[in-house]
Amino acid sequence: MLNFEYHTPTKVVFGKDTESKAGSLIKEQGCRKVLVHYGSGSVIRSGLLDRVYASLDAEGIPYASLGGVVPNPRLTKVREGIALCQREGVDFILAVGGGSVIDSSKAIGYGVANEGDVWDFYARKRTASACLPIGAILTIAAAGSEMSNSSVITNEDGLKKRGYKSEYCRCRFAILNPELTYTLPDYQTQSGCVDVLMHTMERYFNQSTNMEMTDGISETLLRTVMKNSLILKKDPQNYDARAEVMWASSLSHNGLTGCGTDGGDWASHQLEHELGGMFDVAHGAGLAAIWGTWARYVCKDRLDRFAKFAENVLLIPHSEDLEQMALLGIQAMEDYFRSIGMPTSLHKLGIAPSEEQILELADKCSFGNTRTIGKVRELNREHIADIYRLARGI
Ligand code: NZQ
Ligand code: ZN
Repeated sequence: MLNFEYHTPTKVVFGKDTESKAGSLIKEQGCRKVLVHYGSGSVIRSGLLDRVYASLDAEGIPYASLGGVVPNPRLTKVREGIALCQREGVDFILAVGGGSVIDSSKAIGYGVANEGDVWDFYARKRTASACLPIGAILTIAAAGSEMSNSSVITNEDGLKKRGYKSEYCRCRFAILNPELTYTLPDYQTQSGCVDVLMHTMERYFNQSTNMEMTDGISETLLRTVMKNSLILKKDPQNYDARAEVMWASSLSHNGLTGCGTDGGDWASHQLEHELGGMFDVAHGAGLAAIWGTWARYVCKDRLDRFAKFAENVLLIPHSEDLEQMALLGIQAMEDYFRSIGMPTSLHKLGIAPSEEQILELADKCSFGNTRTIGKVRELNREHIADIYRLARGI
């Protein structure tokens, strides 16, 4: 087991009706004025936003509001939020929504708390030294942003989707009420489940050894999410299944399933982020579309790991032929993706990048051929282009 630091400062408030505690949780933070930040309307239609306002009113907390965050959240909205916060003297942001709203809140928080252009952090030109405090009321189990140290923003100029990580942006609290996810369309529920799985799988596929405890937590998390996503396919209002997936969403991306490892591979995420930036696809669906191709491309470099994944997560019978086990495991994972209605190729994702677009995707993903991605196998710009080509499918 490698040395590690595990830091999870987010207070989790889990269960039914917990959104009514938003006002008192913010009051504990001792702030002057709150920005309530939300997406394209689901929280208005469900009545959640009105309940949140009532909870703030009950505590006498002044607030401003900004909606309109879209999936793959945009820099323009972030800039609008920064200007609003500066104008209104906002010193706390309440994100009401999914990963896109939370990430937009984090970016606004960086923009208000630091001098200069907020995009600099995402463009890796400099690092942030602070972020406004943020709280989240989660409405989709997926990105794990409610407990992660990361945010991902798309710059419309050049359609660049870039992530930025720092401890400053970790949410002060996360309100997790599984009932708030009942209104999700099935596609979003399942896309979210894939993202939850992938945050642990990205960490699981690594070049480390001796991770018995971390592997055990990871394998249980993966089997639990797979089982409950299948329940939700048939019974979307099943509270227990919603609850398992929601708790897994936070645990999968708060660092727990990476403790003692080298941090994991993350190539599938890097490959997907470029697809999200260029084609605006749902993040989890994009991951499902690329993962199988990535896995077949790299599995020979860590056959033991892929065989363990096959046996302990997909329940493939043990065999001494590790390559056969690895391939059966990848196949079984893709069968599972199909069974929950998730795509296993770019074609099934609904996009058909031309050769020119593939070269552009590979160039962006390798930051203009200045970086490689992946740990299982280090991938350069040419490998990345190969994977996009192979993932096109039919
Ligand atoms: O905008 P509204 O109207 O709310 O609709 C949203 C959106 O269209 C809808 N939705 C959310 N909750 C709902 C609902 N519809 C009905 N009922 C509800 N209860 O779902 C759609 C997707 O929402 P979004 O927030 O985009 O989903 P998700 O949580 O999957 O977030 C995706 C974003 O997070 C980033 C992704 O790249 C993507 O931009 N990620 C962030 C990470 C992080 N910060 O740690 C890690 C992830 O790997 C990921 O990259
Ligand atoms: Zn993700």
